[in-house]
Amino acid sequence: MIKKVGILFGMEDTFPWAFIDKVNELGNGQVIAEPVLIDKVQQGIDYGYHVIIDRISQEVPFYRSYLKNAALMGTAVINNPFWWSADEKFFNNCLSLQVGVPVPKTILLPSKERPDDTTEKSFRNLKGPLDWDYIFNYIGFPAYMKPHSGGGWKSVYKVESPEDLFAKHEETGQLVMMLQEEIVFDDYYRVYCLGRKYVHIMPYEPRNEFHLRYVTEPKTTGAEHQKLMKTIHDYTIKLNEALGYDFNTVEFAVRNGIPYAIDFCNPAPDADIHSVGEGNFKWIVEHAAKFAIEKANAYSEKQNNSSWGTFLREAVAPTKAKAPKISLKSAAQVKRTKVKKAAVKATPKKKTTTKATAKAAPKKAAPARKTAVKPAPKKAAPARKTTAKAAPKKASPARKTTPKKKK
Ligand SMILES: Nc1ncnc2c1ncn2[C@@H]1O[C@H](COP(=O)(O)OP(=O)(O)O)[C@@H](O)[C@H]1O
Ligand SMILES: [Mg+2]
Repeated sequence: MIKKVGILFGMEDTFPWAFIDKVNELGNGQVIAEPVLIDKVQQGIDYGYHVIIDRISQEVPFYRSYLKNAALMGTAVINNPFWWSADEKFFNNCLSLQVGVPVPKTILLPSKERPDDTTEKSFRNLKGPLDWDYIFNYIGFPAYMKPHSGGGWKSVYKVESPEDLFAKHEETGQLVMMLQEEIVFDDYYRVYCLGRKYVHIMPYEPRNEFHLRYVTEPKTTGAEHQKLMKTIHDYTIKLNEALGYDFNTVEFAVRNGIPYAIDFCNPAPDADIHSVGEGNFKWIVEHAAKFAIEKANAYSEKQNNSSWGTFLREAVAPTKAKAPKISLKSAAQVKRTKVKKAAVKATPKKKTTTKATAKAAPKKAAPARKTAVKPAPKKAAPARKTTAKAAPKKASPARKTTPKKKK
């Protein structure tokens, strides 16, 4: 049977056509590729693709839904639309800790504005103000603040101080942001990973102009470089094994020889010849075609042919019990040990400034201001009706509970 590979794409204009040509060249007439064509989407219908490479459903919910139906019908969708829908960067980081890949210290922040159709009452589980002393001591400054689910450098901020953080957080609307330790890097890499086995490491300079970011050289040589490349290779495979992506890029910032995973939720990564350059383009086209053909040949009828990561596979069918991971701590353990260490290590000089500002922040509203509600009664979990009523309509709990500013 001839196998059919489709590609679903948006505005990009170099990768899709090169991919189609390459599959048709390597497929020997047994595997053919073409752009996916949709003229209707009826539930429970198999539209006949054995494999679909998805490059756009993150921006088009209609396509995402189409792809979920296709996956149910047996199409091997690259990347798995179910996992992609569930995933986001904060979870990525948590999983990364569990599989032993270093990531920057990261804290999740509630959105500045409340989501549509919610009220203060929807946030009774959130204590205001947040534990800013802890957060600032743990993360340090400067820091990065970026959406927990995003890409393309949108709404990525470098923040210098608590005031700067609060001011920039004002601009982020309903986005859920992460506050992240800055990795002051000596070297930086972006890594393509296909099928959780084909790995291509690209030196990358994020501080260059967009079109020059891939025009850079590694900062290490010889044995040191070999060792770093091996570590980056292994970390890339580990992350994608756990997450289950067939097609992804992982970014690493290297500090003192240690690669920290910065961004590894790029399931429709840039593959444009004009940004990644000719050599990298050639690699991604060839390997994407090769992998799509492998998936097409491995297709079994009326089976689930999309890929699932170990996180989900092991959840569904637990393998042997695992040794506890060192990086994961209980909140109680963190309270006992981490704050003090972090305070000394991360921001030795800024400790007092940070603390003072964090406490004296009644004017610069804390990000939790609008969403958070009055602290819950001592023992009870979610505040009851009475507490909610007692919360003044507009006043922010951050203001109410934050100590008065001394000028
Ligand atoms: N913790 C960090 N330390 C140092 N640089 C960072 C950090 N987080 C982000 N950056 C810089 O910001 C850029 C964009 O952030 P990233 O997490 O990759 O977001 P996006 O998904 O929008 O690309 C990165 O390529 C890197 O240069
Ligand atoms: Mg990125």
